[in-house]
Amino acid sequence: MKIAIVGTGYVGLVSGACFAEMGVEVTCVDINQEKIEQLKKGIIPIYEPGLDEMVLRNYREGRLHFSTQLRDCISDVEAVFSAVGTPPDEDGSADLSYVLNVAHEVGQYMNHYLVVVTKSTVPVGTAARVKAAIQEELDKRGKNIEFDVASNPEFLKEGSAIKDFMSPDRVVVGVESEHARELMTKLYRPFLLNNFRVIFTDIPSAEMIKYAANSMLATRISFMNDIANLCELVGADVNAVRKGIGSDTRIGSKFLYPGCGYGGSCFPKDVKALIKTAEQKGYPMKVLQAVEAVNEIQKNVLFNKLNAYYNGDLQGKTITLWGLAFKAETDDMREATSLVTIKKLLEAGCKVRVYDPAAMNECRRRIGDSVYYAQDIYDATLGSDALLLLTEWKQFRLPSWEVVRRSMNRPIVFDGRNIYDPSDMQAAGFEYFSIGR
Ligand code: UDX
Repeated sequence: MKIAIVGTGYVGLVSGACFAEMGVEVTCVDINQEKIEQLKKGIIPIYEPGLDEMVLRNYREGRLHFSTQLRDCISDVEAVFSAVGTPPDEDGSADLSYVLNVAHEVGQYMNHYLVVVTKSTVPVGTAARVKAAIQEELDKRGKNIEFDVASNPEFLKEGSAIKDFMSPDRVVVGVESEHARELMTKLYRPFLLNNFRVIFTDIPSAEMIKYAANSMLATRISFMNDIANLCELVGADVNAVRKGIGSDTRIGSKFLYPGCGYGGSCFPKDVKALIKTAEQKGYPMKVLQAVEAVNEIQKNVLFNKLNAYYNGDLQGKTITLWGLAFKAETDDMREATSLVTIKKLLEAGCKVRVYDPAAMNECRRRIGDSVYYAQDIYDATLGSDALLLLTEWKQFRLPSWEVVRRSMNRPIVFDGRNIYDPSDMQAAGFEYFSIGR
């Protein structure tokens, strides 16, 4: 079986490598020539554990190909997956120009029956527009070729992308023909051999499921952040509260961790886009508006605690950040809390020392040399007036507190992910502040 996947971002590259791993012959297409050249050498543009090895192996064994031209491989394939970006427009709605460009290109070059699958996160109604764009091009060419569109949103998480793709909780596929249904079943059966969990729906529902899932997860986080802030005010411990409510099977224990706000390429963008879609239909999504507002506040929670500690006078203070990425196991800094925090610290006149196991280059690319990029976690705390923990990397879990304490000017820790134990920190000689405890 042969397929093409357009877009070699997170979703496209991981899907391509994983389909190839199952024996499908995959061509990954991207308009970025340099990216394609790098991929052929096994150089992966993103940090994702295990991905480089899987890409290189499948490329060498001839199941994974790279190309800058969809037209070069389209006559060979049974399906074209579109996994190009849908960045937020200025008003928060998803920008569909890349998705529609791919559709036009498919229409321009296809010459046999194809299933055109949208994997990018796109608002309800996009598949219909993809279909219209393909048909428009076929009409221009005076060709009468059958095709189907399908919607197959992706739920993989950065940092565990391969694991998530190889053994998904479920696969969601929106289809409107038996042909497309059969093809998607064939493609996904190897991933779900013993427990086939492909949920087939109509296309608009499949498009909606992705937004609803991400919005629900973001809601849980903002809800817990709100509860955590209240816990501090009433003297409760949010960790105990989290365990207490999470053991109710109706609630469940996942995604109840309070912290210094959610970031990444999905939650912020998808929550905004769903609010926008609803607004266009004249329906205000009040819960999601609050989810977003709480998250904006939460991204400032560490800065505010620090600022309150120093009575609003941070001028000239040296502040350390452990963690820049929006979460552990990635170098991704999209919508990361660190960016908001660094900006606030610099505006307040602080000197900022940062360390992250993977995101140093990404940070330099974004903000240049306005902060000091430390060699390691201990270099980062040298002469520091406070340590802010922003990302829950394993590398930060068990430092030598003795070394940290001696290197700091004042031993204070603000833990934005609740990874340390308050009594341990006190015993190690630190003033310790966390979220909701
Ligand atoms: C998310 C969804 O999980 C995934 O299904 C979808 O396909 C894409 O969006 P991702 O953005 O990779 O994946 O990250 P995720 O691990 O879900 O974390 C998102 C953010 O929420 C991070 O900033 C994380 O720190 C934060 N988070 C997560 C919390 O603050 N508390 C939690 O309990 C869980």
